[in-house]
Amino acid sequence: MLRKIRTNQLEPGMFIHSMEGSWFDHPFWRSRFLLNDREQIEQIVSSDVERVTIDESRGKKLLLSSETVAQPRPAKASACSPKSARLQELSALARPRSYLREVAKPVFNRLSPRERAAEVRKATGTIKRSRAAVMALFEDARLGNSVKSRKLAPLVKQISRSVNVDPTIILNIARIKSKDEYTYLHSVSVCALMVNLARKMGFPEQQMHDIGMAGLLHDVGKTSIPASILSKPGKLDESEWNIIRNHPQRGHDILAASEGVSNIALEVCLRHHEKMDGTGYPGKISADNLSIFTRMSTICDVYDAITSQRSYNTPLSASEALAEMQSWSGHFDQLILRDFVDSLGILPVGTLVRLDQDELAMVIGESPSNYSAPIVRSFLSLEKDRKIVPKDIDIGRKRSRKLLAIEDPEDWGFSDWTSFSAELLSKPAAT
Ligand SMILES: [Fe+2]
Ligand SMILES: [Fe+2]
Repeated sequence: MLRKIRTNQLEPGMFIHSMEGSWFDHPFWRSRFLLNDREQIEQIVSSDVERVTIDESRGKKLLLSSETVAQPRPAKASACSPKSARLQELSALARPRSYLREVAKPVFNRLSPRERAAEVRKATGTIKRSRAAVMALFEDARLGNSVKSRKLAPLVKQISRSVNVDPTIILNIARIKSKDEYTYLHSVSVCALMVNLARKMGFPEQQMHDIGMAGLLHDVGKTSIPASILSKPGKLDESEWNIIRNHPQRGHDILAASEGVSNIALEVCLRHHEKMDGTGYPGKISADNLSIFTRMSTICDVYDAITSQRSYNTPLSASEALAEMQSWSGHFDQLILRDFVDSLGILPVGTLVRLDQDELAMVIGESPSNYSAPIVRSFLSLEKDRKIVPKDIDIGRKRSRKLLAIEDPEDWGFSDWTSFSAELLSKPAAT
């Protein structure tokens, strides 16, 4: 039975089920444990916590005053002998059975500096040619001509090759977009992200072409939106929004009137702004009628939009964007989003990780020295069994600490990880 009591009623042998206030208000890193001695009680009493909940089925009960008089206080009771108390505490600790998944090896860092420099040159050329080809195709569409997507086929192949070598290179280059070239480079990025995700999901190589092409063509309907609306800095009015909302249908019409466009590209073009909960546009189509390709495209489309460096906005970093997208309910297919996160090899902000020296830490950003390594904030020493002063550690730096595994917060008793991580982010930390 759970009972809420004042901290001055605590006694050794009671089992703490939870403490009032935030994790940061009390001295212990776990909030469920058996009280072994007076020292622990003094620590709680002298903290900001005023009330705690005890679990009377797992430890000593609160003796009401009449009972206290009627019953002699148990001598150092067997149930609370140091040995059994320690055993109970150990079982209450219930360390995770196994880590959720090993931290992916940084597969994107297998290139030597020389190979990397050569790949950067190649990817830059691929992006330049792709941007020009997409611009020409969009211009055809603007003039009311059918589009010749076949001309883009060699570029899809080159983008796919670059993604296969190291997706971070081409994605980083395409991330910086001027206002004028935004839509074209966005199309190249979505193509690269779609191919990268499709590989992670295990699609056969023969399908890569159609999937990548769908990414390149998905926003062709934007040619119907006047530049004054597309680049309007202020808020759009309802009629302007209606024009924006029509671009998937307009794009679909253009592609349907063109030769050699796959069904995947047609569908992605029409549905890439739909959401799983049916609140997207233009069709308000919900999960049951959204194909796997559409679900992939909505993720890649939003990710590129919110991470793109445009002249007038501050983009989210990759790890911030992934955390943000994971927090939106009803928008994305969560399983595909998880594959997407894995395909980028980036840990979202807020991920709980375990470091060497037996410490728990939380991802707070990306390393400036290594795109696929995080910066983490350590806050708990498992070895010393206590909280530690938060410290920021750049895992990407040479001879830095090692990241051993991704952990599930629930396995460590953090039932409200969202609030906890927000609070930890707001704390000052040493570097
Ligand atoms: Fe779009
Ligand atoms: Fe888009």
